[in-house]
Amino acid sequence: MIRDARPADLEQIIAIEHENFNRPWSEISFLNEFKKNKCDFLVYEENGHVAGYIIFWYILDEAELANIAVGKKHQRKGIAAKLFNTCLKKHPEVSMIYLEVDKTNTGAICLYERLGFKTTGNIKNYYGKDKDAQRMALSL
Ligand SMILES: CC(C)(COP(=O)(O)OP(=O)(O)OC[C@H]1O[C@@H](n2cnc3c(N)ncnc32)[C@H](O)[C@@H]1OP(=O)(O)O)[C@@H](O)C(=O)NCCC(=O)NCCS
Repeated sequence: MIRDARPADLEQIIAIEHENFNRPWSEISFLNEFKKNKCDFLVYEENGHVAGYIIFWYILDEAELANIAVGKKHQRKGIAAKLFNTCLKKHPEVSMIYLEVDKTNTGAICLYERLGFKTTGNIKNYYGKDKDAQRMALSL
């Protein structure tokens, strides 16, 4: 089931974030997402537990995929694709979606290419010294 994230989910969300990222978002960063207006913060719940989440910022016809992660034991079951497609369905007005991804994150880049994203450029040192980002965009 996909539903809005709640503050009570934060412990599980943060555990998934730490399991997946070397530079995880802080608790404060996640808490701030609850206060934003033009933001979908959704979780995929399975058997009462959070298996993954997405943070999708939108304004007019543009959006930014700000964060997406799935717990390691739940990966490759289509959860990220379902979370992303739920955001698309909620915002038919959105026609361009942008994101940045670590250039070495081949799994995420495969997901984004599968969803139709194209690489539009690189951002040097985006994640720290010599840690470049790949900028990607999806035109709908
Ligand atoms: C990237 C991530 C969100 C994908 O989540 P997921 O639920 O496993 O992805 P899905 O099952 O929806 O994948 C859909 C398709 O994307 C592609 N894909 C997803 N993960 C992949 C991987 N690790 N390697 C290769 N292709 C992958 C595949 O084509 C997959 O379809 P298939 O399983 O039928 O081959 C997950 O691996 C993750 O949480 N990674 C760590 C966090 C992260 O890097 N987030 C992105 C930050 S920019």
